[in-house]
Amino acid sequence: MKNELILVVDFGGQYNQLIARRVRDLNVYCEVVPYNKAVNEIKRKKPIGIIFTGGPNSVYDEKAPKIEKEIFEFNIPILGLCYGMQLISQTFGGVVEKADKKEFGKTLCIKDKNSKLISNMKSETTVWMSHQDQVVKLPEGFDCIQHTDTCPYAGIENEEKKIYAVQYHPEVNHSEEGKELIKSFLYDICNASGDWTMQNFMNEQIQKIKQTVGDKKVLLALSGGVDSSVCASLLSKSIGSQLTCVFVDTGLMRKNEGDEVEEAFKNDELNFVRVNAKDRFLEKLKGVTDPEQKRKIIGEEFIRVFEDEAKKIGQVDYLAQGTIYPDVIESGLGDAKVIKSHHNVGGLPDVVDFKDLIEPLRDLFKDEVRRLGLELKMPEYLVFRQPFPGPGLGIRVMGEVTEEKLEILRNADAIFREEIAKAGEDKNISQYFAVITNNKTVGVMGDFRTYDYTLALRGVTTTDFMTADWARIPYEVLDRVSVRIVNEVENINRIVYDITSKPPATIEWE
Ligand code: XMP
Repeated sequence: MKNELILVVDFGGQYNQLIARRVRDLNVYCEVVPYNKAVNEIKRKKPIGIIFTGGPNSVYDEKAPKIEKEIFEFNIPILGLCYGMQLISQTFGGVVEKADKKEFGKTLCIKDKNSKLISNMKSETTVWMSHQDQVVKLPEGFDCIQHTDTCPYAGIENEEKKIYAVQYHPEVNHSEEGKELIKSFLYDICNASGDWTMQNFMNEQIQKIKQTVGDKKVLLALSGGVDSSVCASLLSKSIGSQLTCVFVDTGLMRKNEGDEVEEAFKNDELNFVRVNAKDRFLEKLKGVTDPEQKRKIIGEEFIRVFEDEAKKIGQVDYLAQGTIYPDVIESGLGDAKVIKSHHNVGGLPDVVDFKDLIEPLRDLFKDEVRRLGLELKMPEYLVFRQPFPGPGLGIRVMGEVTEEKLEILRNADAIFREEIAKAGEDKNISQYFAVITNNKTVGVMGDFRTYDYTLALRGVTTTDFMTADWARIPYEVLDRVSVRIVNEVENINRIVYDITSKPPATIEWE
């Protein structure tokens, strides 16, 4: 079965992925295509609706992205947002001009006509604006459906041609009833049936994988992260023992993490291979203190270990990877097959003899991957795992990575995570962990002088991990963590909390 499709035509707007996610949250499948490939993709994929995104350009710029007129002749409903609206207006003979000043932020928007697009929105609603150019003269055949104080045409329509456009951003949460607008476009204008559900996706993928793989063998490198775990679970459900998962335990994972991953997968039908490679990694890391060098060594060793295991298995037909949709979009919108690099160094496929790649998650956003995990009945601790860097604790042990420092860090980090969860703070914090510094300071325990390590705690809130703020963890919680760690973990006598945001700091310390 093929899902109904909405195509988001990307003009370089910062919210392109967000629009697609909003559409999918309303149970309609959605893909993003660059504007210069849009017409071909429409012919090929036959969407039920098209959305033009915003973009940083002015329609009058020489190099501003344009769209072929043909797109308006397919009789497929179109919704233009921001730049998308200006482009539509310009194409149909309207006038777009630069306003005196940029309109940015929440604005009250007033309804002028009860268009299908906004029929479920109030007559006065708050919307999110971010523009300088705006339409000052409507193209022929278009009606104004909304305006704001400074924007005479905040929403327009040409009902006959099924073209709708708004100057604001309904995809942004600050637009109070943005979801209603998108819903009306999907269900009242494009007549979507809402056939995109995780259960359907799961069942379709299981069938598809079975068909593709036949009786052949598949190999997957399982890191224990969300994407590769969900990928393993989905493949296992489709092809059972034809799947071999190689889980490289680097010895750089958090407390009990290796056992948890093993626990979750070893009972499945798949062939689960755990390689305990701690000694190999520690040997390679001996004496190394430079963060970049540590990352490189860990990444390379991971590949070597995987390669050694793959050699034992012999030739495989398919290599599976947990590539997800943002990776696909970011690397040129589905042009080429993306090979997700492990630990941010070279890809695995170079070293493994395989015929083709399988990437069953390449259509999914991260939150959808998690939903799929739940649909597959995976344990929640795996599905809602916070991000963990490929090089693992190797970059949370400052200076040389030793068994002793790793053990201290694992114990301290486990207490921190336990207390955060107990306090219910895990819902407010995007990522939190401990770092063992390379510093020793003087302390006093009972009647004795101590000279032990300083431990740093880090907690951040973020949506995209590109920027982040330090988490305001309540003092009482920090206090409990501190008391417990110094009492329960040997060799730590001082604890500090990292209060820098990103930028200027990064989330990880190395
Ligand atoms: P930074 O430290 O760059 O981290 O602010 C941003 C996010 O990325 C994670 N991170 C990594 N993830 N391989 C990964 O897969 C890596 O080498 C790596 N380094 C950092 C980090 O945990 C945070 O979520």
